[in-house]
Amino acid sequence: MNRRYRKTIIAGNWKMNKLPSEVKPFAEALKTLAPHAKWCETVICAPFVDLPAAIKAFKDSRVAVGAENLNENASGAYTGEVSADMLTDLGVKYVIIGHSERRQYYGETDVSVNKKIHAAIGAGLQPIVCVGESLEQRELGITLDLIKLQVTTALSGVEADKMRKIVIAYEPIWAIGTGKTATAEQANEVCCAIRATIRNMYGARIARAVSILYGGSMNEKNAAELLAQPDIDGGLIGGASLVPEKFAAIIATANQDQA
Ligand code: 13P
Repeated sequence: MNRRYRKTIIAGNWKMNKLPSEVKPFAEALKTLAPHAKWCETVICAPFVDLPAAIKAFKDSRVAVGAENLNENASGAYTGEVSADMLTDLGVKYVIIGHSERRQYYGETDVSVNKKIHAAIGAGLQPIVCVGESLEQRELGITLDLIKLQVTTALSGVEADKMRKIVIAYEPIWAIGTGKTATAEQANEVCCAIRATIRNMYGARIARAVSILYGGSMNEKNAAELLAQPDIDGGLIGGASLVPEKFAAIIATANQDQA
């Protein structure tokens, strides 16, 4: 983390978990457990049908609500899809774009990710853009080249003044839901490479201000070590974000004074 230059963000990704009726009890528990967020921005990204309940439940708190996906088109004949304007109209602030599960199961590509980013920023949403390599790609030694390509394509055509709205999340696919976390050094190396890519595209001042998160089996036990890394500005948390006690403990870690 580097609080001098950028925001620390602890974001939960509920994925396809929690019923709308389970949102309020979760929010009540989190509001009691979580420390007053001195530095850290807290976000809960929830399934579409949970969003109205989440907006209501977190209304008077400092927890922002995010969606897990959106359609790149503004409106029209796209049965079953949800637009950026629909999300902002509800009061949603963030949206996860290009999660590896969407790339893997729903055919999303760097190009569709780029279109979704444009749709999100056009509507005033803050994208949390996910990038990451598979185990095979890591073993081939192409991680940094691949990440650079993912970031460059995702941000293609995004103007410099919009970059302050964009959050990048590095999620190595082999660490998601596996209990296998990247070491703090591995994670920082890639986050540092993401910042270098942004520096090449937008210059040092903007690169210094972009929050880059780590995701992949992050929990209340390993958060401190990961967050102590200079280029890791927070977490995108799956499993541990479903349990108020665990998520609150990660928020507390992010709020501790920096050594
Ligand atoms: P886990 O924390 O369950 O590994 O999930 C990470 C993730 O995919 C967050 O988007």
